[in-house]
Amino acid sequence: MIAATDLTKVYAGGRRALIGVSLRVHEGEIVGVVGPNGAGKSTALKILSTVFAPSSGTATVCGHDLSDAGSIRPCIGVALQDVGLDPLMTGHEHFTVQASLYGVPRDAAACREARLVERFGLSDHVDQVVGAYSGGTQRRLSLALALLHEPKALIFDEPTVGLDPRARRQFMATLRELRDQGHPVLLSTQYLEEANQLCQYLYVIDEGAVVAEGSPADLRAAVGGLAFRVTVGDTVDDVASRVAGTWQSGQPRIDGEQLVFHVSDQIRDPDAILAMLRRVDAEIREYRLVTPDLDDVFIHFTGERSESEPGQRPMDMTVRIQRGGGQRWK
Ligand SMILES: Nc1ncnc2c1ncn2[C@@H]1O[C@H](COP(=O)(O)OP(=O)(O)OP(=O)(O)O)[C@@H](O)[C@H]1O
Ligand SMILES: [Mg+2]
Repeated sequence: MIAATDLTKVYAGGRRALIGVSLRVHEGEIVGVVGPNGAGKSTALKILSTVFAPSSGTATVCGHDLSDAGSIRPCIGVALQDVGLDPLMTGHEHFTVQASLYGVPRDAAACREARLVERFGLSDHVDQVVGAYSGGTQRRLSLALALLHEPKALIFDEPTVGLDPRARRQFMATLRELRDQGHPVLLSTQYLEEANQLCQYLYVIDEGAVVAEGSPADLRAAVGGLAFRVTVGDTVDDVASRVAGTWQSGQPRIDGEQLVFHVSDQIRDPDAILAMLRRVDAEIREYRLVTPDLDDVFIHFTGERSESEPGQRPMDMTVRIQRGGGQRWK
């Protein structure tokens, strides 16, 4: 079990990366942390991996207090966002170093290495130096290394970045197996569809704070209303800027060749949206009224802006839909 309460982190130079993050990961549960670039996801995961201490707040990982890093480290398997491999060492040498760091007996290490090499599709690479690996292969090695000492809890920061679809599917299956064996798994991801499929519980972090939490289904329901998706083809950027000049009832977001309008009241009913799109000469190819997906959740709770242009969150309250239901507004 991983439990953190009110973690804050102020980096040297004064950057406040976390301003009070609490989270829980139970055994047999995959919990996701999502949020915009710079939200504080890696900072939270590094603190829980004992890479550095929080400025304040407490946490226990596998029953040990965060201050007891020596007891936590053998219990956790960690793959950080920056894979941190030595380009001059082979994959096999990395396994050997990892085994000796964690005191894995030689026979067990050889046996587990063979299994992990097979599972992560590394057999053609394990005797090459890591500097010659592709980005995705380096990522696969770093994930395999995190599992070598058979840790109790898993902490992965954007583990599927750079993986091809097959490797991603395989890794997701591995995570589900670990969960089914009772391991707590904490991961961050930018792939919201992946979070939707994998995670029992999600924390949406923005500007160092949890702005929403709950199961993916509960978070989608909390957004409420429906998403009206209009396919306008590759003119989508042009159409969006024409809409921006005329439409006062909430700007749509762009998703591929679609404009996505959040429909939640009479003013923004689909017919009015279609009429407005015709007025701005948009070519409407297809439209659908669907329930919100996690992209809609993300935009709803964190707003539509980049790290370089911080702004007001769309809501100044935290939505908590806790395990077992019951929505609480803070
Ligand atoms: N070592 C550091 N020193 C100073 N500031 C830092 C340091 N590491 C991160 N930050 C800052 O803290 C904030 C949170 O960074 P963090 O890496 O935790 O975000 P993130 O949510 O993981 O983002 P991303 O999605 O880009 O990985 C950012 O503003 C970042 O610039
Ligand atoms: Mg990060």
